[in-house]
Amino acid sequence: MTRSHQIAVLPGDGIGPEVVGCALEVLDAAEARYGFRTERREYAAGAAHYLETGELFAELEDELRGADAILFGSMGDPRVTPGILERGFILEMRQRFQQAANVRPVRLYSGVPTPISGLTPERCELVIVRENTEGAYVGRGSTVHAGTPNAVAMQESLNTRAGIERVVDFAFRLAAGRRKRLTLCHKTNILVAAGQLWQEVVADLATRYPEVETDYVHVDAMCFHLPLAPERFDVVVTDNLFGDIITDLGAVIQGGLGVATSANLNLDGSAPSMFEAIHGSAPDIAGTGWANPSGAILSLALMLGHLGEADAARAVEAATVEVLGSLPALSGPEMGAATAELGSRIAAIVRDDATDPELVPNSLLGTLAALEPSRPAA
Ligand code: IPM
Ligand code: MG
Repeated sequence: MTRSHQIAVLPGDGIGPEVVGCALEVLDAAEARYGFRTERREYAAGAAHYLETGELFAELEDELRGADAILFGSMGDPRVTPGILERGFILEMRQRFQQAANVRPVRLYSGVPTPISGLTPERCELVIVRENTEGAYVGRGSTVHAGTPNAVAMQESLNTRAGIERVVDFAFRLAAGRRKRLTLCHKTNILVAAGQLWQEVVADLATRYPEVETDYVHVDAMCFHLPLAPERFDVVVTDNLFGDIITDLGAVIQGGLGVATSANLNLDGSAPSMFEAIHGSAPDIAGTGWANPSGAILSLALMLGHLGEADAARAVEAATVEVLGSLPALSGPEMGAATAELGSRIAAIVRDDATDPELVPNSLLGTLAALEPSRPAA
């Protein structure tokens, strides 16, 4: 019987529908070539939908829960007060669906220009695993005497042993299947309470993964090691806010937000995982046809890897890298080909089975489903 996957598609706002449209064309090609099929349901969500209906994540939760995976474009529009969609949709989805690990590969692909002079693809192939449901992102806090000279603002960061354990365990498993090095990134010299809990969990779980070497780097120091010596890292695990910040730095190193991609993984199968490019809705270029669809197409590759379609995932990654590496620039009219044209080129390579596996010798994207299970305590 043909393998079939149910995909919920949320194109969202701005350039979201344009880049997701490309990803779906590539998905058509992958289905034709690799013998599986998807049932796709597209949902209206995001700024325009919110302005029209007042609906956020809560109204879609039950519908989305039944999907095998969610392919997400981007959300945001200057007409909606900042924070409403971010917290009411994106964070709500990550938390309600317990998408505990935000996996963000930082990989300089062959032929892709980087602002870091002298950096080569061999030296830049790491993964940042960001805790995705806790920390400062729980949105707890309060303001007393707001609007007066005595205003007091308190903002909390929530760190639970269980929440840290599940993401650190995932990071160890990922490292065990790669170059066997796990770096904790935090700020233990200042955020002493949270930092200590993170360090304890890493030390405890390290006994189950003796072949993985562990290491620690403060988040400020990470900001110079990451661009200058990315070869030092294999898997980096970090808290939600630090992860948000250092993955933007990672994106710059690998050629910009147009290229960077992410998976928001539910680790216990209780709800679907979500796949998205790292970029936002970019209202300034929406509708111009000059958005780079690579991040979105690579998120499709991550999704296919997660669904067990490893060959298709590798092919989509390699085809994207081939087209990316041929572009004179990574964004705007300087790319020399518009969004839809790039999507069609990538789809054609996948459909014609013309991918060059040498372009991506050790694909992370294709291997997500093949992770070993958690190891029990001794
Ligand atoms: C990201 C984004 C989000 C975050 C925003 C849009 C809520 O910056 O996915 O990195 O802060 O996590
Ligand atoms: Mg971010």
